[in-house]
Amino acid sequence: MLDTQTNRPELPPEIARRRTFAIISHPDAGKTTLTEKFLLYGGAIQMAGQVRAKGEARRTRSDFMQMEKDRGISVSASAMSFDFGKFRFNLVDTPGHSDFSEDTYRTLTAVDAAVMVVDGAKGVESQTQKLFEVCRLRDLPILTFCNKMDRESRDTFDIIDEIQENLAIDVSPASWPIGVGREFMGTYDMLNDRLELMDRADRNVVAESVQIESLDDPKLADHVPEHLLEQLREEVEMAKELLPKLDPQAVLEGHMTPIWFGSAINSFGVKELMDGIGTYGPEPQIQTAEPRKIAPEEKKVAGFVFKVQANMDPKHRDRVAFVRMASGHFKRGMKLTHVRTKKPMAISNPVLFLASDRELAEEAWAGDIIGIPNHGQLRIGDTLTEGEALRVSGIPSFAPELLQGVRAGDPLKAKHLEKALMQFAEEGAAKVFKPMIGSGFIVGVVGQLQFEVLASRIEMEYGLPVRFDQSQFTSARWVHGDRKAVEKFADMNKQHISYDNDGDVVFLTRLQWDIDRVARDYPDVTLSATKEMM
Ligand code: G4P
Repeated sequence: MLDTQTNRPELPPEIARRRTFAIISHPDAGKTTLTEKFLLYGGAIQMAGQVRAKGEARRTRSDFMQMEKDRGISVSASAMSFDFGKFRFNLVDTPGHSDFSEDTYRTLTAVDAAVMVVDGAKGVESQTQKLFEVCRLRDLPILTFCNKMDRESRDTFDIIDEIQENLAIDVSPASWPIGVGREFMGTYDMLNDRLELMDRADRNVVAESVQIESLDDPKLADHVPEHLLEQLREEVEMAKELLPKLDPQAVLEGHMTPIWFGSAINSFGVKELMDGIGTYGPEPQIQTAEPRKIAPEEKKVAGFVFKVQANMDPKHRDRVAFVRMASGHFKRGMKLTHVRTKKPMAISNPVLFLASDRELAEEAWAGDIIGIPNHGQLRIGDTLTEGEALRVSGIPSFAPELLQGVRAGDPLKAKHLEKALMQFAEEGAAKVFKPMIGSGFIVGVVGQLQFEVLASRIEMEYGLPVRFDQSQFTSARWVHGDRKAVEKFADMNKQHISYDNDGDVVFLTRLQWDIDRVARDYPDVTLSATKEMM
């Protein structure tokens, strides 16, 4: 049967109830706190406080390393599944630190929607803006949560205006705050004509709901002081006049975001947001792939790797590939084809991630995220199918912004170093370039913190002390063109040429002038700052 709104076949109920999303926000806006409340209401954790440490921990190197030691936890936090009402939520974590933005970008290719958290006092901050733009590139639907309303916050219209202006998206209020700062007492649920009243005395108490007929209902006076009630009526009237009405289709197309106001730490507004994700968030979407798209309702199973996490147990070099299921109904033990190598793979120990636990995934549907332990066969960008040669597209690799040379403290260990570097390159933790002339490697990253994390990991996981030192290059560009032209170009520019871990040719330089020169003098090749992972 065709769905009248989307003109697409109705999805099997198990797929239709899945909502796969990420949270985007600026550090400190409350992502960790909100995640925790999601898990609490999803029944995945019993008590607030179990994932608390992480938001803060991501921000400093020593804590990051500490967290890395405890990888069991950080891995399960990468993708979390829980039920809420009739929905199955798959929440995919995005790294908090901006130095890991490439990882974040790839994570966003694995979700169907994003929840944007803004701090009610600070509005749209830089990292939120950046992440929003990435979502925009993919027209991802966005649901907004304006957090920390229990504190002094900005005027509600101001916040909404700022989002509309800075992010060029229509904002429709799903709830409206009653009072601000110390006077904040809850919200008026604009979608259900309800009052939600916050309990300030107990952070873990779920808000009291009061059903009302309209804002003229005399019942209101029993709950809201006169001056706040007057203000609420005025503001809501203005909001209805000035702001767009919630249009579910516009939300799905990414042109409009509904906004809920709340306070994550007080468990306030979170359930309404979760209901909103269920009601207005998208079902699992069609995945772009070559040579054809993959629809979630297809009977055959397909999925793709968007993240690899290695050495969860340093004694065994095992890795977990995070796979987003794109179609079908996967069952444990299935044999899938690893499209890049055309080899069959029996998926016997797939895992699902609950908040502090992982467990065997007996089955998974389109939209789910499973982890597949493997010994390095699975790389970011790989597609698994039941045989068809499909390749999910749109998972990019970015040119690094910082380059450094790397050397093993012990020159006899160069081979070991190469192995370690290749592993990190495949995991997506760094770009590794082998220069055409000379020895050694050049490592490229997006943020300085990554060098430090890499050095610690190489030492910890491979027992190899390493030194990073300045490289003569500052920019890397992939060279595209037909094979002959690329080879000829490489031959004529040997001192600038390196190979990445896939063997693709990379042009390294420190001058924009050089990049312009190539464009002018070599019409047969092009340089690019991104490459698609495959
Ligand atoms: P992040 O993951 O986005 O970085 O944010 P996180 O949840 O770690 O929250 C950042 C800080 O904001 C934390 O305070 C947290 O308690 C606080 N917070 C989160 N939600 C709310 C809210 O609704 N109201 C208020 N007033 N504060 C909120 P912290 O001092 O850094 O940590 P902690 O000492 O509370 O653990």
